[in-house]
Amino acid sequence: MKKIDHIGIAVKNLDEAINTYKKLGFTVSDIEEVPSQKVRVAFMKIGNSRIELLEPSRTDSPISKFLQKHGQGIHHLAIEVEDIEKKIESLENSGVNLIYPTPRQGAHGVKMTFVHPKSTNGVLLELCQYL
Ligand code: CO
Repeated sequence: MKKIDHIGIAVKNLDEAINTYKKLGFTVSDIEEVPSQKVRVAFMKIGNSRIELLEPSRTDSPISKFLQKHGQGIHHLAIEVEDIEKKIESLENSGVNLIYPTPRQGAHGVKMTFVHPKSTNGVLLELCQYL
């Protein structure tokens, strides 16, 4: 576990959310479509860390389901790891519930997976590794 890489916030409309966060003083560094997650995302840098705004790009996106259930708000916490395959293996051996047993491609080409909130006291935890 290296550091908190970013915090993900689910939003209904990315362009509106970008404007809202710009008003708050944040600078949007990049906007990207992530097909594996069916989302469009924007990143805002704060020192060593970032905030990720996520908008569903399709109605069957996991973010659509989240918005229907909970409304807009904090969706996940992302931790950067050194070696995601190794981490997944050791977590599975400890009985931790992972959403993707094989890492997927996330924004910026990172390899990522999610730990199920059942295994984290209710927080969707993203693990990501930069290549
Ligand atoms: Co994320």
